[in-house]
Amino acid sequence: MPAPGILVTGGAGFIGSHTCVALIAAGYRPVVLDTLVNSDARSLKRVACITGIEPVLVRADVRDAAALDRAFAAHPVRAVVHLAGLKAVGESVADPLGYYDVNLAGTLSLVQAMGRAGVRTLVFSSSATVYGDSHPSPIPESAACNAVNPYGRTKAMVESVLADLSRSDGRWGIACLRYFNPVGAHESGLLGELPHGPPNNLMPYVAQVAAGERDCLVVHGADYDTADGTGVRDYVHVMDVAEGHVAALRHAARRPGVLMTNLGTGHGASVLEVVSAFERASGRRIALRIGPRRPGDAPAYWADARGAFLALGWRARRDLDQMCADSWRWQAANPHGFDDPAPAFAANLPRFQDNSGADTDANINSNVGHSHA
Ligand SMILES: NC(=O)c1ccc[n+]([C@@H]2O[C@H](COP(=O)([O-])OP(=O)(O)OC[C@H]3O[C@@H](n4cnc5c(N)ncnc54)[C@H](O)[C@@H]3O)[C@@H](O)[C@H]2O)c1
Repeated sequence: MPAPGILVTGGAGFIGSHTCVALIAAGYRPVVLDTLVNSDARSLKRVACITGIEPVLVRADVRDAAALDRAFAAHPVRAVVHLAGLKAVGESVADPLGYYDVNLAGTLSLVQAMGRAGVRTLVFSSSATVYGDSHPSPIPESAACNAVNPYGRTKAMVESVLADLSRSDGRWGIACLRYFNPVGAHESGLLGELPHGPPNNLMPYVAQVAAGERDCLVVHGADYDTADGTGVRDYVHVMDVAEGHVAALRHAARRPGVLMTNLGTGHGASVLEVVSAFERASGRRIALRIGPRRPGDAPAYWADARGAFLALGWRARRDLDQMCADSWRWQAANPHGFDDPAPAFAANLPRFQDNSGADTDANINSNVGHSHA
């Protein structure tokens, strides 16, 4: 039986490419739909180095209804993992309409095309930003959504749209994954985060300081009411996040309705704890200086991770040391990103068997009526 196809929008990006690895390992066959506006098609070659299988790339925009119809017709998929979107909070404040267009209108366009194709199983990349900054931690899924910026509001609005959709038509199975802070890289050192310009997030910035690409890390505030005064976040390994998508896909395929769930570790690490862990992993000193707080930064937040375990049987398995070690392996082996040849040790990686199909097929069939199958 052929491996069940999964359309992965945004699949060439950071979380998407790692999700492709996890999907292939679980016996699925990803088909990536991506404009490459914030990614590089060579990430999919690296997926092939790791797994032995290169996902098909459909270069298209999720807002392009005709392109989506063509993609569903050409690639009979059983479900969609929807990661395509814009994700920079500051940019969303400067260009809210651009963010509503890609993130909200893009999702409407996608689910409409899914409906036309008879594909009604969806995993959506949401974000902990839907909660806003006023909840005590750990934050459970029942906490009110009070997003404080346009980016977070696009995610909260999409969640509402998907909840309404599932209420209107019981054939849909949908899981919205509220990621906390995905970091790290695939343990092979072949795949990782490739920020365009100065990284917005802490760990890739620290990695670039360790590599000597940046002089020093500016810590935005060391006078918060936290153990060491620096901000605390729930960092979660990107491969744990990727595996969370597989668990969510199986859940959504079996159970109609909508699930909103956190993907986090359930505990926080401060900026200084991340820096120390990275120093241990890299054997390098990370130069830093303390700067003023950034407006809008919450002092501390982390997930209540129990919901994901109860609903999906998923919990994060990799700790902060591994997140830093994997991030450093990627950074050190690929100082120029995908311009560097795949590291020599890639040749020794075990390949996944292409033995997909069997039980995954059954798992993903239940609420799908694919008109092109
Ligand atoms: N990385 C994080 O910290 C984080 C946290 C919470 C949620 N998320 C969400 O997870 C998803 C993936 O994030 P990521 O970190 O991998 O980002 P990324 O930028 O690496 O990946 C997003 C991908 O979507 C593609 N894309 C953008 N607009 C598109 C469009 N209109 N049509 C088709 N493709 C398009 C980009 O080219 C890119 O490959 C995003 O939706 C993001 O909002 C990310």
